[in-house]
Amino acid sequence: MDKEIAIKPNQPTILTGDRPTGPLHLGHFVGSLRNRVVYQYHYRQFIMLADAQALTDNIDDPGKVHRNVVEVALDYLAVGIDPKVSTLLIQSQIPELAELTFYYLNLVTVARLERNPTVKEEIRLRGFERDIPAGFLTYPVSQAADITAFKASLVPVGEDQLPMIEQTNEIVRRLNRIAGREVLIEATALVPTISRLPGVDGKAKMSKSLNNTINLGATPDEIRAAVKKIYTDPLHLRVQDPGHLEGNIAFVYLNAFDPDQAGLAELKAHYVRGGLADSVVKERLDACLQELLAPIRARRQELSEDRGHILQLLKDGTAKAREVAAQTTVEVKAALGLHYF
Ligand code: TRP
Repeated sequence: MDKEIAIKPNQPTILTGDRPTGPLHLGHFVGSLRNRVVYQYHYRQFIMLADAQALTDNIDDPGKVHRNVVEVALDYLAVGIDPKVSTLLIQSQIPELAELTFYYLNLVTVARLERNPTVKEEIRLRGFERDIPAGFLTYPVSQAADITAFKASLVPVGEDQLPMIEQTNEIVRRLNRIAGREVLIEATALVPTISRLPGVDGKAKMSKSLNNTINLGATPDEIRAAVKKIYTDPLHLRVQDPGHLEGNIAFVYLNAFDPDQAGLAELKAHYVRGGLADSVVKERLDACLQELLAPIRARRQELSEDRGHILQLLKDGTAKAREVAAQTTVEVKAALGLHYF
């Protein structure tokens, strides 16, 4: 462990983050959390609880965001993110991020913000229509501040976040051009091979707003109930009928979580041939998920008993991160002529 820490200062910096609006689920685990556990030993990794960004579309319910900061931190720690090697931080407690956002807003146009396809889609889904909060339209600029404040060169994100990285790099180039030197560095997105897990209902994405998740803290009964109602093959009516794997969520999850992939291959062949009941597939999936989530749930439960300790971890991480962000802010302000004394 100590050796790993020692080699990290010269490693590239990674920044990732989540909006703390609800508990994390298996989709987060597959798409990002398990990668972060590996990255933390190879890179200098900052993980942001993006509470300020979460407020951009939850301003009427700030209590929800506040409560979920500790909940999401518990999820992080329970899956094995180690606060000794990753730096956990709370976005709103680093005022330099807001300061950078304020300057960067001059480096983008409103038309450019309105063209961001992810923001456009989110506006549609949230039904903002013409009443778009200005903070929501400009959150990609705040995200550019997040990324550049830590001089992150790698940003692991889902595909939907690629427009944010593009917009960040446009801001970086514009600032560097104005300064006439490289003040900020461009970031590269790290898109995982499996970046999204479908919901238990068969919809393309597992998402708390679609109510089709299995949370990392799910109880054994909740896991069992979710597996029971999982979407399989609607054409597989009788046990002897041949089954289909495409779009069959039970198999999508087994692909992602079954440690015995050879045994799984046999199971799939049997299912396709016919003669294998959905209930057998589901039993196997239930067993896999129970085994995966039991230690995570136990650790989460144990950690949740000392919230003071979690808050202290977040406070320490935030203080460390703030030093880095403050240094970058001095450099950006100097590049823009905002230095006097
Ligand atoms: N927008 C990201 C999401 O919704 C969360 C986020 C905020 C983020 N700041 C970030 C991700 C910086 C990567 C880097 O998932």
